[in-house]
Amino acid sequence: MDESFRIVSLEDGRNAIPVIAQWFCDQWPTWYGPDGPGDAIADLEGWADGSGIPLARIALSETGDPMGIAALKPDGLGEELGLGPFLSAFYVRPDCRRRGVGMALTRAIEDAARSLGIASVYGVTDGARGLLMRAGWLDTGLTAQSERGVLPIFCRNLAS
Ligand SMILES: CC(C)(COP(=O)(O)OP(=O)(O)OC[C@H]1O[C@@H](n2cnc3c(N)ncnc32)[C@H](O)[C@@H]1OP(=O)(O)O)[C@@H](O)C(=O)NCCC(=O)NCCS
Repeated sequence: MDESFRIVSLEDGRNAIPVIAQWFCDQWPTWYGPDGPGDAIADLEGWADGSGIPLARIALSETGDPMGIAALKPDGLGEELGLGPFLSAFYVRPDCRRRGVGMALTRAIEDAARSLGIASVYGVTDGARGLLMRAGWLDTGLTAQSERGVLPIFCRNLAS
């Protein structure tokens, strides 16, 4: 059954933070797992203070269950090249994928950046290449080294 969803800012969906923190632990264990250096709750709290970048948007089901998240952060793979801000922490719950939630989150991050006067946003990804290209993001030809290997850096020009 297809379920509709809505996109809200993380500050308007703070109740979702513990659930999303668990997603992060499971998806990115070397960073957010028990032995990793990351603190998912602290990061999410920091993206929910409503003060601009970093920020996050989440997808909620009709019943208010969190379905996915995307963040816009000043730091990320590629910042060493002087690029940013970055679409990151991009995750949709496995049972909610392939319904357009990821695309809606991408658009919401673009809108948030645009409303802050940002001209271009960047993303370093292996898992979302097709989605970003369909959304009008371009492969810069630049790459970043990650623990998953060398990844392409995509850019979305928000003026176009
Ligand atoms: C990448 C990710 C966020 C995409 O989320 P999603 O909600 O599945 O994204 P969408 O539904 O917008 O698009 C995914 C695919 O479903 C297709 N799709 C969208 N709506 C659809 C529908 N109603 N019916 C069938 N397919 C649909 C899209 O065309 C797209 O196809 P593609 O595989 O050829 O690219 C998700 O797969 C994920 O969390 N992956 C693990 C983490 C990850 O890799 N994050 C990104 C890199 S760090």
